Parts: sequence; structure tokens; C-alpha cells
Amino acid sequence: MRVMVVRCWLIYLILHLIDKGSLQDPLEIEGVVGDSVILPCSYKERVLNPDERNVFWRYNTHKNVYDIEKGKEVTEDQDAVFKDRIESFPLEYKNGNFSIKLNHLRFTDNGEFFCYISKVERQYNLRLTVRAPPPTLSPPKPTADSRSSSMKTQQDGIVNFLIAVLEFFVLHYF
Ligand SMILES: *[C@@H]1O[C@H](CO)[C@@H](O)[C@H](O)[C@H]1NC(C)=O
Repeated sequence: MRVMVVRCWLIYLILHLIDKGSLQDPLEIEGVVGDSVILPCSYKERVLNPDERNVFWRYNTHKNVYDIEKGKEVTEDQDAVFKDRIESFPLEYKNGNFSIKLNHLRFTDNGEFFCYISKVERQYNLRLTVRAPPPTLSPPKPTADSRSSSMKTQQDGIVNFLIAVLEFFVLHYF
């Protein structure tokens, strides 16, 4: 009986580990609304021939973000959401760098992107989080008014204290 339980646990553990290994965690990328962000995608294992430079960028598995076919940008099937917002770096293709730049970030860009390099069957997953710009509040400066009023209350405090001391003496000694 105990052997069975241990065996079940081992099988569970092994399946769990296999699952973890095959499910590559997406790379977390953060950007600010209105700004730009680089979505990295690099293949470094070997140099790809120009004919092998086929790369498919997708958003939330299906939306066409950007395609590179035999080292040339193809935007015919690009989703309208990404129109005129993507830059790539053609001089980097020969280095296996198919990163793209997404401009004018919107909250609706939140989600998963992937870059699929078909000839080597390699997929890189990214998760983009778009944040609001940080507030640009400057710390409040003390105004002349608040300074003089705080000085006044301090003076009032001293006066009240002296009066109280005087009263104490007057009441106890006279
Ligand atoms: C790929 O190219 C982009 C744009 O020039 C650059 O920002 C990025 O650092 C490059 N990535 C690598 C791994 O070289």
C-alpha cells in the first residue's frame, strides 16, 4: 500500500516537472502609456541565412503584429491595432535579432506577445504590462502664510505657558 502511494507521488512529481520544463514562462516587459517599448526576440544559436529569416510576431496568439519573410517586412496582414506603431531593426536581422519596437503604447496592448522563428521552430513569449505614467506631483512648499501662522501659534503657546506659570504662582503664594 505504502509503496503504491509513494509510486503515485513520484509519477505526479515527474509529470509536474515535465510540465514546468515545457511551459516556458513568458518574459515580463513593462511600458508606460504613450511611450515605446522594445519587444525582444533574438536567436543566437547559429547565423540564419537570409532565406531562413522568417519571423511571425503575434498578439494574444492570433492578432498579426508583424511578419518578416526572408528578411523582408510584410505588413499586409497586420492587424489595424498595430498599424504604424511597429518598428523593426533590419540591420539586426543578420545577428538573429528580430526585436520590434511598439510605439504609442495603449492600455489595450496589455497581453501576451510571441515571436515565432519558423525555420528553427523557436518561439519566444513575452507578457507586456502597460502602466499609467507616474504622477508628477511636487511636494507642497511651505508658503509664507503657513510659516508665519505656525510661528504665531508657537508664540501663542509660549505666552499661554507663561500665563499658566504666573497663575500657578499667584494662586499658590499670594
Ligand atoms: C536587438 O536590437 C535592438 C534594436 O537595435 C536592441 O535594442 C537590442 O538590444 C538588440 N538585442 C540584442 C540581444 O542584441
